[in-house]
Amino acid sequence: MTNPLAPGSLDGRVALVTGSSRGIGADTARYLAAAGAAVVVNYRSKAPRAEKVVADITEAGGRAIAVGADLTDPASVAEMFERTVAELGPIDILVLNASGGMETGLGGDYAMRLNRDAQVNVVEGALPHLAEGARIVFVTSHQAHFIRTTPTMPEYEPVALSKRAGEDALRAKLPEFAASGIEFVVVSGDMIEGTITATLLERANPGAIAARREDAGRLYNVSEFAAEVASAVAEPIPAGNTRYVGDTSGFAPEA
Ligand SMILES: NC(=O)c1ccc[n+]([C@@H]2O[C@H](COP(=O)([O-])OP(=O)(O)OC[C@H]3O[C@@H](n4cnc5c(N)ncnc54)[C@H](OP(=O)(O)O)[C@@H]3O)[C@@H](O)[C@H]2O)c1
Repeated sequence: MTNPLAPGSLDGRVALVTGSSRGIGADTARYLAAAGAAVVVNYRSKAPRAEKVVADITEAGGRAIAVGADLTDPASVAEMFERTVAELGPIDILVLNASGGMETGLGGDYAMRLNRDAQVNVVEGALPHLAEGARIVFVTSHQAHFIRTTPTMPEYEPVALSKRAGEDALRAKLPEFAASGIEFVVVSGDMIEGTITATLLERANPGAIAARREDAGRLYNVSEFAAEVASAVAEPIPAGNTRYVGDTSGFAPEA
């Protein structure tokens, strides 16, 4: 893992990364903590995994706490913010990484409940607890960001539509964010090698990852993409509030 953030560059800051018990969120939490931020490692159900991320951070000399909260449960989200502020203080960095919708048994509307409704609720719940000049980072995929102009695999379509709906709902808040001095950036990445989502899609569409790798030239792995998310926390806000990671040439821009 190569941290794009300099040691000490986030000293005194508080960061909350949703869904950081594994994958991209976990590596993002590690990068932010190594740069000096006190980090909340949020998870839904995998407490031991979240505690392992916290242990990695603290053993490396950083500061972190694990806070369980199902983001689709407003009471649980409210408790997460109360605990964060009580233990670490106002939040400077909110990374909206948690995502889902390919799980079975959670209801047909689960993708929309998590990727749109819960994201909006998390942001609205966070607003009173954000520090001055705070930054919100929304993590998404090219397959979701461009879903209105470029079709995706059928298994991923409900996730893509719900993530884009979540992105749109948050973008609609840009004037409100600006009025409160809050910065907002979307990080959109291509398929990431080694993730559960990519594995599930490969299982349903054998050869899909190799085909995408060939079209894109290369695919990022988890730690490389997390480094881009961490960079988006610190670098100037890009044009259109969007940081594209990896090739976008196969995706049609909106008219
Ligand atoms: N995978 C890709 O190829 C890819 C490509 C581009 C962008 N992205 C984006 O990168 C982000 C992370 O993706 P990933 O593949 O690393 O995800 P992942 O491995 O599926 O991890 C999801 C994380 O979200 C948490 N989570 C799921 N449902 C939750 C809920 N209801 N409440 C709270 N936390 C919840 C999980 O916690 P538990 O472990 O406790 O369940 C886990 O920590 C997503 O926004 C995704 O769209 C992914």
